Amino acid sequence: MAGGNILIRGGTLVLPHHEPFKADIKILDGKVAAIGTSLSRKGVDEVIDATGMYVLPGVVDEHVHMREPGLTYKDDFTHGTSGAAVAGVTTVLEMPNTKPPVESASILRQKAKLLSSKAYVDFGLYGVIHNANVHEFEDIVAEGAVGFKVFLGPTTGNIPPPDDGSLYEALTKSAKLGVPLAFHAENADLVRYFTEKVKASGRDDPAAHEAARPPICEEESINKLILLSKRTGGKVHIVHMAAKEGVELLRAARTKGLNVTGETCPHYLLLNSSDYLKYGTAIKVNPPIRGKEHQEALWRAVLDGTISTLGSDHAPHAEHEKRGNVWECAAGFTGVQTFLPLMIHQALIGKLPIQKIPELMSEAPAKLFRIWPKKGALSVGSDGDVVIIDPNGETIITKEWLRAKYPISPFIGWRLKGAVKYTVLRGMIIAKDYELITDRPKGVWIKPLGKH
Ligand code: DOR
Ligand code: ZN
Repeated sequence: MAGGNILIRGGTLVLPHHEPFKADIKILDGKVAAIGTSLSRKGVDEVIDATGMYVLPGVVDEHVHMREPGLTYKDDFTHGTSGAAVAGVTTVLEMPNTKPPVESASILRQKAKLLSSKAYVDFGLYGVIHNANVHEFEDIVAEGAVGFKVFLGPTTGNIPPPDDGSLYEALTKSAKLGVPLAFHAENADLVRYFTEKVKASGRDDPAAHEAARPPICEEESINKLILLSKRTGGKVHIVHMAAKEGVELLRAARTKGLNVTGETCPHYLLLNSSDYLKYGTAIKVNPPIRGKEHQEALWRAVLDGTISTLGSDHAPHAEHEKRGNVWECAAGFTGVQTFLPLMIHQALIGKLPIQKIPELMSEAPAKLFRIWPKKGALSVGSDGDVVIIDPNGETIITKEWLRAKYPISPFIGWRLKGAVKYTVLRGMIIAKDYELITDRPKGVWIKPLGKH
């Protein structure tokens, strides 16, 4: 695996559970070799002067849908990972609702091979579990999946939700092998019921999407998953949490010490249902953006550790799919490139301590998906994945700035405090000032390090 030799000097290191402190970092052969003061430049090819800057572990975005293979008319891995690279994300965990869905070991292997030549950052791959492939669980794990995505609700790719027997079996296997299952937790029957009702009422305003998937859809699924985890010991991770009712269930489960964790995304923290008026269907996403009380509950959960990870849920679509009324418009938008800049702004305006960023966006996802401390850490022996932030810089999100086939995002036009100055992948500078400066994609496929 290629790796560079670099010294990052004079910066302020931001690590989880610590106050930021001044230190140099030396990376040799792609791995962190030393952290300390006044490190020598012996053995390095390049020195970055990080005076006045924050130095963080590269971000591990545990939740991206980069659409390759099969859905590349929406976007592809080259665009997706170049967006990641310029904005401080050094590892992405890629979701399996591509075409074909990643439902067998051989499909996983082929996907890894295809993506390897296109990856601007390192990547891990999820498999998918549904009724027809639970018996493939062990083989997919042995092939190197970081975990599985399970879709309980309808989403892009129309993967059928597994029945309760398959869920029980998958979670039993999860417990045995220590493999996490990431759940899209929205009850499909309830989503269907409410959607039909709201459609029949004649509504087609953008906020009708919220009414069509009310909190009980999340609450029912999360409740069931907590019970299944309690009985099987399986590792349940609820992704893109959007409802306060789900947060309350998660908090109670974690207080009891159950094997359940949760993720939310910047759009649930930064938007609420009053924004349907402003942004229309641009903010249509599953689960939906909800009222202010949900937004506030999510912030509290992020700050008190109930929610332990953030993911971008990068979910690009083609422009024609994002048009039309609320029922026709596709759910989701690009997110991997805005992920860190949006959260850095939140830290710089005092909404969260800056050391929560490497905790929520690097360390916790890497631990959960068993790629820590190779990824998601800055300690001697870790991969030299680093992001350097200029707190005095500014980031303006524009269509031109976004590296996506279809640069669609509700955050276009937002001005943010702070800028990603450098992204370093295994000791190699791959981006500077939001421009790629690498001659070729240097990312590699990462398999879990833990037991399996
Ligand atoms: O809005 C969404 N879009 N939510 C998901 O969970 C999946 C995603 C997609 O793949 O389009
Ligand atoms: Zn999802």
